[in-house]
Amino acid sequence: MQEKILGFLKRRQDYVSGDQISHRLGITRQALWKHIQELKEIGYDIVAVPHLGYQLKSIPDRLFAFEVSGDLNTKFIGRKIYYFDGLSSTMDVAMQLGIKGAPEGTLVLAESQTKGKGRLGRNWFSPKHKGIYLSLLLKPKILPASASILTLLAAVSICEAIKEITGLDARIKWPNDILIGHKKLGGILTELNAEMDEINFVIIGIGLNVNNDKKTLVSAATSLKEHKKENINRINLLQEILRKIEENYLLFQLKGAQPIIEKWREYGITLGRRVKVYCQKEHIEGEAIDIDADGGLLVRKDSGLTAKVTAGDVVHCR
Ligand code: BTN
Repeated sequence: MQEKILGFLKRRQDYVSGDQISHRLGITRQALWKHIQELKEIGYDIVAVPHLGYQLKSIPDRLFAFEVSGDLNTKFIGRKIYYFDGLSSTMDVAMQLGIKGAPEGTLVLAESQTKGKGRLGRNWFSPKHKGIYLSLLLKPKILPASASILTLLAAVSICEAIKEITGLDARIKWPNDILIGHKKLGGILTELNAEMDEINFVIIGIGLNVNNDKKTLVSAATSLKEHKKENINRINLLQEILRKIEENYLLFQLKGAQPIIEKWREYGITLGRRVKVYCQKEHIEGEAIDIDADGGLLVRKDSGLTAKVTAGDVVHCR
C-alpha cells in the first residue's frame, strides 16, 4: 500500500487531497494517515496542509526494493529484490537463496555489511548508505571454467553505467577492479555453485564506493563523490548497472563471449602492459597480450611462452 501511495504522490508532484488518495486506493483517511506516518519515519519528506492534502517533498537516500524496481524496466534482473539495512554479507544470503531455488535475476541489496567479502579472502569496506553492495543470482548455461566471463561482463556493465549516470571514465584492471585513475572504486566477486561440468548458479557480488568522503577511504581507494564533488543518486546508478548487466547478459546469450570481450578491451587497462600476476603460491610475469573467450588473461612470458591466468592479483609494472 505504501508503494501505491508513493506512486500517487510522485505522479502528481503537487498536493493531492487525502480524500482523493484514500478513495482511489480504497482505504480510510485514518489508514492513509497511518501509512503516511510510516513513510515519514523511514525518511520520506511528506507535508500535510489542511484543505490541500499531501505533498511529497523528497525521498530518502535509501535503496528500498520498491524504489529500485519502480521504473527499472528490466525483463528479469532485479525483478525480485531482497533489501537489508545491514547484513554480514550479501553473498551469503544470495548463496542461500540460490540453494533454495530462487529465480535468475534475484538481487540482494544491503545498505551496509559487517563482513563484506573481497577477493582472495580480503574484506570489503561497506559503510552504511555510502556505497552500493549487491549480489546478483544468474543461471548461465556455460561450463564452470568459463564463469570468469561473467566477471568481465559485470565490470563492463558497471563502467557503462558510471559513464551514463556521472560522465566519469571508469576503467577495468583485470579481472575485476574498477578504477578511476589508479585508485580502486569498486570490485566484483564471483562465486559459483556448480557440478564438474555444469553451473547450478552464479552469484555476482558488486561493491562500489559511491558517496564516501575521501578522508574515510584508504589512499588506494576512491569514490564517485570524490570526483564529482557532490553526492550521486545511488538509486539511479544502481538501476543503470542492473539494466546494463541485463543488456550485456542477453547479448552474451545471443552472440557469445566475443562482443563482451570487445567491450572489455575498450575499458580494460591491463592489455599491452607488463604485469606480474600473483596466483596462489607462484607469480607469472610478462606482457598481458589478450583476453580469451573464457575471460582468462593471456600473458606472454619472457621465455616467449604464453600462460593463461584465470584468477589472481595483477600488478601493472609499467
Ligand atoms: C574485490 O574487489 O575484492 C571484490 C569486492 C566485492 C565486494 C562485494 S560488496 C557486495 C558483495 N557482498 C560481499 O560480501 N562482497 C561483494
